[in-house]
Amino acid sequence: MKECFKHHPWQIIEEGFNPHYNKIAESVFSLGNGRMGQRANFEEAYSGETLQGSYVAGVYYPDKTRVGWWKNGYPEYFAKVLNAPSWIGIKFNIAGQSLDLAQCRVDEFKRILDMQTGLLSRSFKATLPDGKQVHVHAQRFCSMAKDEIGAIRYAITPVNFSDSVTITIDVDADVQNMDSNYDEKFWDEVSKSAVEGECIVTAQTKKTFFHVATGMRYRIVQGGDELKASVKTLLREKYAGNEVTVNFTAGKEIVIYKYAAVLSSENHPKEKIAEHCRQVLDDAMATGYDQLYADHVKVWEHKWNECDITIDGDVAAQQGIRFNIFQLSQTYTGEDERLNIGPKGFTGEKYGGSTYWDTEAYCLPFYLGTAEQKVARNLLVYRYKHLAKAIENGKKLGFTDGAALYPMVTINGEECHNEWEITFEEIHRNGAIAYAIYDYIRYTGDQEYLVEYGLEVLIGISRFWAQRVNWSDDKKKYVMLGVTGPNEYENNVNNNWYTNYIATWTLQYTREALDYVRGKNPSAFQLLLDRIQFSDKEAQVWKHITENMYFPQDSSRGIFLQQDGFLDKQLMKVTDLRPEDRPLNQKWSWDRILRSCFIKQADVLQGLYFFEDQFDIDTVKRNFDFYEPMTVHESSLSPCVHSILAAKLGYEEKAYEMYLRTARLDLDDYNNDTEDGCHITSMAGTWLSVIKGFAGMRLKNGELHFNPFIPRQWKSYSFRIEFRQRVLKIKVTGSRMEALLVSGEPLTIHFKGTSHTLNENQVIEQPL
Ligand code: BGC
Repeated sequence: MKECFKHHPWQIIEEGFNPHYNKIAESVFSLGNGRMGQRANFEEAYSGETLQGSYVAGVYYPDKTRVGWWKNGYPEYFAKVLNAPSWIGIKFNIAGQSLDLAQCRVDEFKRILDMQTGLLSRSFKATLPDGKQVHVHAQRFCSMAKDEIGAIRYAITPVNFSDSVTITIDVDADVQNMDSNYDEKFWDEVSKSAVEGECIVTAQTKKTFFHVATGMRYRIVQGGDELKASVKTLLREKYAGNEVTVNFTAGKEIVIYKYAAVLSSENHPKEKIAEHCRQVLDDAMATGYDQLYADHVKVWEHKWNECDITIDGDVAAQQGIRFNIFQLSQTYTGEDERLNIGPKGFTGEKYGGSTYWDTEAYCLPFYLGTAEQKVARNLLVYRYKHLAKAIENGKKLGFTDGAALYPMVTINGEECHNEWEITFEEIHRNGAIAYAIYDYIRYTGDQEYLVEYGLEVLIGISRFWAQRVNWSDDKKKYVMLGVTGPNEYENNVNNNWYTNYIATWTLQYTREALDYVRGKNPSAFQLLLDRIQFSDKEAQVWKHITENMYFPQDSSRGIFLQQDGFLDKQLMKVTDLRPEDRPLNQKWSWDRILRSCFIKQADVLQGLYFFEDQFDIDTVKRNFDFYEPMTVHESSLSPCVHSILAAKLGYEEKAYEMYLRTARLDLDDYNNDTEDGCHITSMAGTWLSVIKGFAGMRLKNGELHFNPFIPRQWKSYSFRIEFRQRVLKIKVTGSRMEALLVSGEPLTIHFKGTSHTLNENQVIEQPL
């Protein structure tokens, strides 16, 4: 664990320049707006350690797969989010020297991410090799109001010299991914232009032929007036810039306003994209930096009004939770159903920017509770639109008749993952997609979703499960062989309890959904059945499977077994491990991990979390007490599920310990990997730890129930939650809990079993 950043309730603050931590800071200070994202790379040239990252949502490259031993069914490629053309460059040449923080003495360095306003600021004093000093104060944001615009205000003051200085302001598509299987560059040039004051480069991705137009305009101002400058245009392959020569006068600040427009052919016709880029630049210039910023801040203000969590008495926890909410809100805005949430969001290349089960299992409840309904709905529609590809994916693996296997990793619906034990076997992800439909409908009450989209997806998934199980003559039960559960530290196991459970649950839920749609909208129902050739016989088979599924368990301990044979393992606790053996995935051979009892992330407990109403509290407790001590939490998705279950069981200290591991995971670089990017999807888990964990929020029969406690380290906490067109504010202190209906129709809620009906602006309270 590192302490790179100062604690503050609304800001992330880095003081002093530490090149060693630069990549961590680049991740943490990343900005985005759902449409584009930018790591906190410097505007100036930087020759030190850096991971350059500009990202455009939905734009990817299919990098040809590289594997040791090819297996039938592997995908040909891994879709990768691209390091896109850079729009941030403002480079200085001062008396033949580049302003490059790796080559200068750097003093008074400070970087601040203001989460309330989505503004990144950086200031420093740099002493160049010849002793010339400049003072810089740079600010930038990716506009949340106009999501194709990025803006920079770069103020530079020569401290001890006057001289003519060359400033290169550019857009650069000659960029590369760090993660490239064959070291290729993924962009080709389509067109470029550079005139005085404006540059546009249109580049296209190889193979996928996405076009991205990146343009910039700028103003250079001194003392409120436009500064006279001589400008030379620069054009080379995939690059356009302006070389501006200005006179620096000691003590006099020069401000460069750079406006960038980033447009993708996902949203603009290719033949018009450069022209549209110019129009967006015109708009940005006409609006001006201050107004663009004011509009951007207004969107953040609205967002925070919907979803803030306050924690009184613990600044580190306050900063941690806001950082998680901030990152999630700038990663996915729900504006576009073609987009999703990569595990690293817009903060790095790892995981290819692709969609995992993380979205359905972890992120969906966050967006349900913090944004208008369409945001979560669009996450579901994304999978609906990929149904045909999921059926194709099933077919590739030998499944028939419309059986859908959703990919483990995808951008466009095709499977990208190519480790057989995950691609072919980690099929529980299919269940999470079904569960998300259930979760969305029960939270929003939008049953219509089943008619329009949901049922068809459920049928495809159920068809897969029905073919994936087989009847065991020996057990006289259905079994599921050769799977990998959520715990990826076990592969190719038989009867993973969680997978068997979620498969059975899906079959049952799909049958209920069939009945619902049949009754609600018979004509839509019939149309669907005819289109996908569904017969009731299938549902009969599903019923038989549901009633006769095998679930491994140990009756003497009263627990479910993670899979057949789990008890043959040498059972140990994480506390028995030597510190130098951790993390296991970096210190142990893979076969040793597989043979050990140690668990990467919630597995049986994931099932008890999803389906808690189906188990009594003692069952949850016995399983938690058995599995948690063996869990190493080497997936960032793990601690939050444990925190929620611990809270439910009254293990308050454990709940808090697990919460801390998730809340400041990236801020404190807990897993030593923040430099690759932030753990965006697990951030939703942090939010869940507060809402479902500490506040004990549950939905029962369409009404919200709260069963809160307060960690003893906190004085009070409060949060806002969106629920069925209302905003509700809940506050918990050491002695009482209170609820305010901020907006919307009257709402009945339950505090520790007591029900209250709230009108708009009404507050109710109850002792804790
Ligand atoms: C976890 C998976 C998760 C993936 C992406 C892996 O380490 O085991 O459950 O989907 O990371 O976050």
